[in-house]
Amino acid sequence: MKDQARVLRELIKSEYDNDNFQVITITSGKGGVGKTSFTVNLAYALEKLEKRVLILDADLALANVNIMLGEKPEYNLIHVLQGEKSINEIIYTSKYGFKYIPASSGVEKLANLSAKEQLYLINSLKDIALNFDFMLIDTSAGISEIVVNFCLSADKTIVITTPEPTSTADAYAISRILLEYKTDMMELGLLVNMVPSVEEAKRIYEGIDRVLRKFTGKGVEFYGYVRKDEKLPLSIKEGFLLLDKNRKTKYSQDVFSFAEFLATGKRKAQRTNFWQKFFNNLIKIKEE
Ligand SMILES: Nc1ncnc2c1ncn2[C@@H]1O[C@H](COP(=O)(O)OP(=O)(O)O)[C@@H](O)[C@H]1O
Ligand SMILES: [Mg+2]
Repeated sequence: MKDQARVLRELIKSEYDNDNFQVITITSGKGGVGKTSFTVNLAYALEKLEKRVLILDADLALANVNIMLGEKPEYNLIHVLQGEKSINEIIYTSKYGFKYIPASSGVEKLANLSAKEQLYLINSLKDIALNFDFMLIDTSAGISEIVVNFCLSADKTIVITTPEPTSTADAYAISRILLEYKTDMMELGLLVNMVPSVEEAKRIYEGIDRVLRKFTGKGVEFYGYVRKDEKLPLSIKEGFLLLDKNRKTKYSQDVFSFAEFLATGKRKAQRTNFWQKFFNNLIKIKEE
């Protein structure tokens, strides 16, 4: 195992590290909290701020990114894992300009990747990072090994919750697990979605943060809020991105503010290498 680990460590070592490159993982405890809609609209906002953005659809059970973009890509991650396509061949340019790597829905194999497959995937992703400023990873809800790996390897992980008690309980549960493994190389923050106001968002954040501090001794950042906006479900139904159609809605304003925060924010550690971290986490979790 040790030898294999060394070989893989070499493999994963990025030869050229793009210093501007940031990986943001978007996750949640509970499903249906707004991860995918937030990811695609955030990509749009970052693109407008002249950032080069790539979305990785890592919701390997319910792949929704292409659906929200209103696109039907022919190939996806499954073809890469089966060795039929290279990762470069499945980077699609959306009609909004930013790029995305689609996943495929309902393929059980994808939802449970082996450590070897995860490494293969990560290794094929690392060279393309050179061409981007941001990689946004939209994950599935809940705690699977690959989701935890993506979260722990990112520069920032955004846990999205809504005000519903089931959602906040699940946000607490996933944050608690991530805090157990978290290092100073990453930031973990909570974003409260579908709230009426900033006061309500802060109240929910403080509730979760307080319990986390009590039981783990560590807290999470407050990444802000996105207000509930009936125009969003309408836009999804009609197949357009709300931010593209109307920049003045509550949803659009809040997502743009968050994009500005990301675009102007500095990375925590000077040189964090997503690929190296992913590899180390994979080994660490496996060994426990
Ligand atoms: N801020 C919001 N205001 C109103 N509806 C929202 C908001 N955010 C998400 N939704 C709705 O929640 C539903 C689930 O969103 P989705 O992005 O698919 O969640 P997830 O990816 O977490 O499963 C969608 O119908 C979406 O329109
Ligand atoms: Mg989703």
